[in-house]
Amino acid sequence: MVRRAGSAGKVLEVLRGADGFVSSQKICSVLGISRSAVWKQVEALRRLGWSIEGVSSQGYRISGVADSLRILEMDPGFDPIRIGRRIVVYEETSSTNDDAWQLGLEGAEEGTVVLAEMQRAGRGRRGRQWLGPARKNLYASILLRPPVPPGDAPFLTLLASVALCEALAETGPLAPQIKWPNDVLLQRKKTAGILAEMHAEQESVHFLVLGIGVNLNMTADMLPADVRYPATSVQCALGAPVDRVSFSRTLLRHLDHQYDAFLRQGPGPVREKWLRYCAHRDGLLEVETPQGTLQGWFRDIDDEGALVLEVAYGRTERIRAGDVTRLDARTGEVSEMFLKGKPPCSS
Ligand code: BTN
Repeated sequence: MVRRAGSAGKVLEVLRGADGFVSSQKICSVLGISRSAVWKQVEALRRLGWSIEGVSSQGYRISGVADSLRILEMDPGFDPIRIGRRIVVYEETSSTNDDAWQLGLEGAEEGTVVLAEMQRAGRGRRGRQWLGPARKNLYASILLRPPVPPGDAPFLTLLASVALCEALAETGPLAPQIKWPNDVLLQRKKTAGILAEMHAEQESVHFLVLGIGVNLNMTADMLPADVRYPATSVQCALGAPVDRVSFSRTLLRHLDHQYDAFLRQGPGPVREKWLRYCAHRDGLLEVETPQGTLQGWFRDIDDEGALVLEVAYGRTERIRAGDVTRLDARTGEVSEMFLKGKPPCSS
């Protein structure tokens, strides 16, 4: 069978799998493409920043690694079910969430991914700024069109945090944890966050943009110092830089699989994984909500992604939005309130 004239990604795969030079003839026969197609794809890879040596008697070999996400436009590196069938990569943008939102308005297909090498005006939750230095991190926004009512959509933020943990655990000896609702922690410091923005009417979601920021290769001196919660990067936690292309592929593959599981089986399997990664399971928490501050014991998350907090003995509250702090040091104080059965709400 003759394959379609090969993508640069497939040529790259052959070259990466070899120890030294690979003859042009061998690439032709492995991929079922012509010599001139091989040459064209090698040129495309060079334009993406890969250094590829070409010696007429020996063939081609990789002599330098590209640190460019552009390769993902040609080859996501996995077989996407929904997420990653179309990937758009910008060298620089203000916010990938804005770009994905615009694509959503224009009717782009579900699973379209926008990536950027640099963000000028990255946004976090509650209007906070998200740093976007060039070629250090991952800035990704995924366009979804979930067939769920708007009230269920926040669960997708939890789904994204599970995918992030799975990707981090696959990347190295890391023990990622999730701080409700959307922070992913390494060594108890924030390394990734999710900003979900929804275009919906009362009954249905038109689309949802899942914005994901991961501090990958920022060094300690580059991390934001003035945030409410200490920050870290994967490089700081691992002690070595990570390959951004391969991390992006791993993350998109996990997102794709988790989303598929959610659509086919509902929230159950994702919820179970989320609880395994949860940083404050059974912990005593303080939660700042738009309505005021609550204290209580973490009990669960529900199928809409809300936090279930036991605020007084036997009395639980469902919290849809808020910032969580663990209060282990003040355990005694709150236990007393529990015993009196007094709702510890102070707004
Ligand atoms: C948070 O923890 O507050 C969420 C941070 C989300 C940052 C990402 S980076 C890619 C996407 N584009 C944005 O402007 N924000 C999200």
